[in-house]
Amino acid sequence: MAAKKYNAAVLGCAHIAVRSLIPEFFNSPRFNLAAIASRDPGKARAAAERYAGVSWGTYEQIIHDSGIDLVYIPLPNSMHYEWTMNALEAGKHVLCEKSLVTEYAQAEGITAFARAQRLLVAENFQFRFHSQHRWTLDALAARKIGEVRMFRSSFGIPPLPADNIRYSKELGGGALLDNGAYPLKALQVILPGYNFTMKAATLRYGDSGVDISGGMYLDCPEGIAAELAFGMDNFYQCNYEIWGSIGKITANRAFTAPPGFRPRIIFETADGVENMEMPADNHFANMLIHIAGCLDTGDFEGEYAQNLRQAAYINRALELASATVERR
Ligand SMILES: NC(=O)c1ccc[n+]([C@@H]2O[C@H](COP(=O)([O-])OP(=O)(O)OC[C@H]3O[C@@H](n4cnc5c(N)ncnc54)[C@H](OP(=O)(O)O)[C@@H]3O)[C@@H](O)[C@H]2O)c1
Repeated sequence: MAAKKYNAAVLGCAHIAVRSLIPEFFNSPRFNLAAIASRDPGKARAAAERYAGVSWGTYEQIIHDSGIDLVYIPLPNSMHYEWTMNALEAGKHVLCEKSLVTEYAQAEGITAFARAQRLLVAENFQFRFHSQHRWTLDALAARKIGEVRMFRSSFGIPPLPADNIRYSKELGGGALLDNGAYPLKALQVILPGYNFTMKAATLRYGDSGVDISGGMYLDCPEGIAAELAFGMDNFYQCNYEIWGSIGKITANRAFTAPPGFRPRIIFETADGVENMEMPADNHFANMLIHIAGCLDTGDFEGEYAQNLRQAAYINRALELASATVERR
């Protein structure tokens, strides 16, 4: 018997939605792309008309449509909490773009409500579902680099046009929530068995009032150090490196390997260097299969825990960085 398909609606014709998630929902074996919403009815209609059978409307109309199971929210960060809660109150499961919240208390509120209503809230870090990381996780489990000593990860991009949402304080912009969230998430995905505590964070602010670049330092009781760096006025970097007692693993396109692209993993030991081209994969499609699997089982605790942990780290980075700024 074919697996059940869930009806999904998209809230806002964001770049990420138009470029990636709308086509992936449309082509997914586990979702029907049912509706697209926009502040501008013309935009919603134009986006919907590119896909057979997709309806369109306002955000309010779409979340109250009784045929919709899950709402995908690719709005600016400052709107994630409000529209996640609106969708939950309307009885919908939610896939929300990163960063899910701008304050830890919002993550607690979302989780308590979602849990009480038995609804899923997942934060969209699709890189979690790229098969290149399976190679790294298997290599770590097989102790191919011995004991882990250090985790380093960077995600930085060159400047964007000045009117981009990432430069707006009001819209929840800033490099920490946009780019820094990835190395933080990667630490949890690649070294999931460790309890890292954040010890230091630095944010550099630009004229727009949002943080433009920064770094974080964490460690854990086993003595592993983690250095994370990010920015949106930077030479492009999208990597992680795990340095062990007898080797090192580096992934150079860790977060944004598009469907069809073959990322490389470099594995170094005293015996030599292997520069491996990994298979291409579609992390968007894999993520939708994972989300549908959560809906099939009704087990949402794993996603809730990840949402809370990520929000707690972001909160801690903001606290530590503001203390640094005050000391300058
Ligand atoms: N997972 C990923 O790989 C990935 C990649 C890029 C971005 N993102 C995340 O996705 C979200 C959107 O990013 P984006 O770059 O795609 O943004 P974007 O193109 O600027 O889209 C944001 C959308 O939000 C809606 N919106 C509602 N109120 C708005 C307001 N006051 N100002 C601006 N837009 C408003 C607009 O849709 P309508 O006009 O149609 O209503 C707009 O198209 C962010 O949270 C970002 O962090 C994730």
